[in-house]
Amino acid sequence: MLTARELTKRYGETTAVDTLTFDIHPGRVTGFLGPNGAGKSTTMRLLLGLDRPTSGKALVNGRPYADLPWPAREVGALLDAAAVHPGRSARAHLLALARGGGIPQRRVPEVLDTVGLTEVARRRVGGFSLGMRQRLGIAGALLGDPGIVVLDEPVNGLDLDGVRWVRGLVRKLADEGRTVFVSSHLMSEVQLVADQLVVVGGGRLVADAPLPELIAAWSRTRVVVRTPDPDPLTACLQRRSGPERPVTVEPGADGELLVYGADPEEVGDTAHAAGARVHTLYREEASLERAYLDLTEAEVRYPAASGKSGTAQGGAGQREGR
Ligand SMILES: Nc1ncnc2c1ncn2[C@@H]1O[C@H](COP(=O)(O)OP(=O)(O)O)[C@@H](O)[C@H]1O
Ligand SMILES: [Mg+2]
Repeated sequence: MLTARELTKRYGETTAVDTLTFDIHPGRVTGFLGPNGAGKSTTMRLLLGLDRPTSGKALVNGRPYADLPWPAREVGALLDAAAVHPGRSARAHLLALARGGGIPQRRVPEVLDTVGLTEVARRRVGGFSLGMRQRLGIAGALLGDPGIVVLDEPVNGLDLDGVRWVRGLVRKLADEGRTVFVSSHLMSEVQLVADQLVVVGGGRLVADAPLPELIAAWSRTRVVVRTPDPDPLTACLQRRSGPERPVTVEPGADGELLVYGADPEEVGDTAHAAGARVHTLYREEASLERAYLDLTEAEVRYPAASGKSGTAQGGAGQREGR
């Protein structure tokens, strides 16, 4: 289990991580999603004791990393695949890591095999492709057979086979009961591997919810209306709303109305009945990707209340300023 409590990290004027609170549970893959600069790598470094929080807590199995007696056996991480001495062979690199972490040397050929680098184990890492370095980094993360695995953008630089391989691996690690925390800046990527999503934008928590809940909350198709008479139309639409079929109206970013729960024909007819002029009216198929970009790139905060299953109330149009 990984825990962040009001975790905050500032670098001068920049708040890289802003009062983040979450728990990452065993037995599932948790995707850590956010655009570049959202604070994912910083959060991971804080959890792994490579940086000190400005305030708040970052815990591994309930303790700060520095207090773990055998850290490499509790948590393994791939943070920066380039951080390997180029003159060393893959095998020598892993042997050095094993020595440093108090891990038996027999783990080295095991993890080389797991990541498919056995054939090139004696080659210098300097000649490795980015994809091979990613595999080596993952081998390093698995060396101590840890119950928690943290991978920062593990599919960056991988070809399609490599990407599929990482997906299969993280699934297997979670199925074995491990805590798996994997970052990505791509919704399309985490959507394929994650059971749970922790979404950040501008260092802040945007959502923490099971993937199906996020899909339900964020993939809602809506009708976009531009009208000089928003009030009578809104009132009329709200009168149509019932417990069976709730209709909600939210203001859009550019003054338009976003209508959820009604189709364009209904909205048009309602406008006619309400005497509201309509200048634009269309259906917008909301994609998870677009909702994610809307929410994180604007650095708005998506309400994420505490609760076991996490929350994903409201929809993409529901915003709360910072
Ligand atoms: N060591 C550092 N010194 C100064 N600023 C940093 C440092 N590390 C990260 N930052 C800043 O913190 C923010 C979050 O960065 P990062 O955690 O790398 O985001 P992500 O991994 O989501 O792309 C960025 O604005 C970045 O420039
Ligand atoms: Mg990063």
